[in-house]
Amino acid sequence: MAINQAILSRAQPLVHLKKIAKPAVFLLALAPFIYLLQSLLTGGLGPNPIDSLTDSTGTIAIRMLMISLAVTPLRHVLKQTWPLRFRRMLGLFAFFYVALHVSIYTVLDQQLDIGSIWEDLAERPYILAGTTAFLLLVPLAFTSTRGMVRRLGKRWALLHRAVYIAGAAAVVHYVWLAKGDLIEPYVYLGVLFLLYSYRLVRSLK
Ligand code: HEM
Repeated sequence: MAINQAILSRAQPLVHLKKIAKPAVFLLALAPFIYLLQSLLTGGLGPNPIDSLTDSTGTIAIRMLMISLAVTPLRHVLKQTWPLRFRRMLGLFAFFYVALHVSIYTVLDQQLDIGSIWEDLAERPYILAGTTAFLLLVPLAFTSTRGMVRRLGKRWALLHRAVYIAGAAAVVHYVWLAKGDLIEPYVYLGVLFLLYSYRLVRSLK
């Protein structure tokens, strides 16, 4: 009896940690959005707020995408299943920031001028690469619910492999658009290379 109680009281903090982990990760992932909103409302985005918003949302989007791609390898390396609890939320946050980034470009920057967007698509390869990444992420976001996972069965996993192509297209987008300082886009290229090599070696094993 006493032993059982000792085990229970030791397990209590773990139970609490489990309860707060998801809301904590949610708030952490939402924090950049709140920060951007606050900067926008207080005029803290500099002389060109639209450019600044495009760049900031793009940077947050690519980081969230990399983090969500790292969840499965992290799970294997740690030999723990807890990282999987955050995978869907992080993936949806990545999509949220990508959608925000694309909306800022199409609505605020291009003012929904389809001709001009089309011209950009045809003339700027980085826009084409970004659009490829975005279009690949759309079906993944819409099939991320538990119901869809159940309904699609094995096809779900197959479909969701598209995230690897989306990740690659997003990094190509960044490498192609970057002028001068290429350090950051190459860091993402390196991270992507490590993550994909790990996946490849594991699947070959
Ligand atoms: C998964 C999809 C995407 C990701 C992860 C992404 C990420 C990024 C990143 C990291 C930047 C650079 C930010 C910086 O310079 O600090 C950027 C810039 C930009 N992105 Fe994207 N992007 C995506 C899709 C798109 C799409 C679909 C469009 C338009 C149709 C687009 C338009 C732009 C534009 C116009 C810029 C600014 C270019 C400049 O500064 O000259 N992006 N994006």
